[in-house]
Amino acid sequence: MSTALPLESLAHNAPGIQVLNHPLIQHKLTLLREKDRSSSSFRRLLQEISLLMAYEVTREMPTQMVEIETPLERMRSPVIDGKKTVFVVIMRAGAGLLDGMLDVVPGARVGHVGLYRNPETLQAVEYYFKMPAGMPERDAIVLDPMLATGHSAVAAVTRLKATNPRSIRFVCLLAAPEGLRTFRAAHPDVPVYTAAIDRQLNEHGYIVPGLGDAGDRIYGTK
Ligand code: URA
Repeated sequence: MSTALPLESLAHNAPGIQVLNHPLIQHKLTLLREKDRSSSSFRRLLQEISLLMAYEVTREMPTQMVEIETPLERMRSPVIDGKKTVFVVIMRAGAGLLDGMLDVVPGARVGHVGLYRNPETLQAVEYYFKMPAGMPERDAIVLDPMLATGHSAVAAVTRLKATNPRSIRFVCLLAAPEGLRTFRAAHPDVPVYTAAIDRQLNEHGYIVPGLGDAGDRIYGTK
């Protein structure tokens, strides 16, 4: 019987890695991991978790004061400029985290990165990349449920950096210690938000105990 590792037991309990251990997130994550859960239930839980994660991930979002009128008087009050946020979906499983994030920041823009692994070189090869205009004024939040080896996350963020966004954050549901190490070594300036850090990768590159193939579970393709 295994559990996800407590953060305290990891060498990468470091600034820049935040485990979002809110009881609601952890409860829903437990349900999501169960092998007999249907795709529709898996998708719904993923949306609920990503909505809850969005609260933490957007905590530092800049606000500006605007003048409004309440039924009683005029006042100055803070608002965010959601359009300055771009959610960057790493295809295809990253799309599973998008709807919950957009529920909280509906004005955000969305970019997509498509990568596949060359079976000979094992390197990530880009097949799709589309971002909104004006990236230097935007805060990018990269979405991928599984930080496993970390190779595609590293490649996606390297490519994203070429567009010069104002800031980058990386959000996943589960991280393997190996992937965290690789990612933090390549991009120490990019904070990682995860709901859990699991024990390890298995010989096929899956996170264990994990939840299986996130894309297949979201889309019912297996
Ligand atoms: N990708 C997945 O979908 N699951 C894993 O466990 C690892 C990578």
